[in-house]
Amino acid sequence: MSIRGRFFPVSILFVSLLEVRNLIKVFPLGESVFGGNAKGEVRAVDDVSFDIKSGETLGLVGESGSGKSTLGRLILRLIEPTSGSISFNSRDLLAANPSEMRRLRRGMQIIFQDPFGSLDPRMRVEDVIAEPLIIHESMSAPARRQRIEELLRVVGLDESAARRFPHEFSGGQRQRIGIARALALRPKFIVADEPVSALDVSVGAQIVNLLAQLQREFGLTYLFISHSMPVVRYLATRIAVMYRGKIVEIGTTPQISMQPQHPYTRSLLQATPEVVA
Ligand SMILES: Nc1ncnc2c1ncn2[C@@H]1O[C@H](COP(=O)(O)OP(=O)(O)O)[C@@H](O)[C@H]1O
Ligand SMILES: [Mg+2]
Repeated sequence: MSIRGRFFPVSILFVSLLEVRNLIKVFPLGESVFGGNAKGEVRAVDDVSFDIKSGETLGLVGESGSGKSTLGRLILRLIEPTSGSISFNSRDLLAANPSEMRRLRRGMQIIFQDPFGSLDPRMRVEDVIAEPLIIHESMSAPARRQRIEELLRVVGLDESAARRFPHEFSGGQRQRIGIARALALRPKFIVADEPVSALDVSVGAQIVNLLAQLQREFGLTYLFISHSMPVVRYLATRIAVMYRGKIVEIGTTPQISMQPQHPYTRSLLQATPEVVA
């Protein structure tokens, strides 16, 4: 599959939806791994700056442990940075008080590798998708039911999925349910953290295509995280390469693919085959 011929809404690519500046996250280590008393620290995100323009997909690629998930969680303020600044929609995210943050959070959602990993297996799909609607929207029960059915259709699932339980679905279908939940509040921006890494290649390609279709339909902006260069190249408008907490290279997908500047980017390109599926 190739990105050639893919339509990108160039006219809206000039406005920054997200601006990250000098972001740092240090995790203290409680104990030395060598058994001594020396306390160390992990600079999981180490002075990272970049923008994401409205309507684009920024791919974030790097090996396991390079700090990708930490960066994604910092941007949504699921964890607090050590220092640095984040602005979303021209608002200083780190200065937002809890009620402002609640409002801003409606506009920014996350899709995980396994959307059901942390959920109660006794919850029906309709309850999983209803949760953000109940927290953030005052809707009548029939209106909510209608919205849940609409969301299921949007992600390519049958309405009957609503009454079923997570374990009744395949990995790809579960990821569709996770996407439906993320879309419930009509966000502008979605962090997709390795959304296809747990799936077979062909199922993963379907989910990637669904994400691309939803982007066109709803004008979404993505930070798409993956350790796989082919997957990132397929979906991303631009690519940021992360290595040991730093973004070592950032550029358009053709620039990164054809003229990689950093040796680590070259090794990522060499380590992976040309095709996604
Ligand atoms: N809550 C935490 N406490 C301590 N260290 C953490 C925590 N979360 C992540 N780390 C460390 O930060 C580094 C980056 O992790 P992570 O962001 O999960 O990388 P990636 O998503 O690229 O695999 C790793 O060394 C990891 O062990
Ligand atoms: Mg991760």
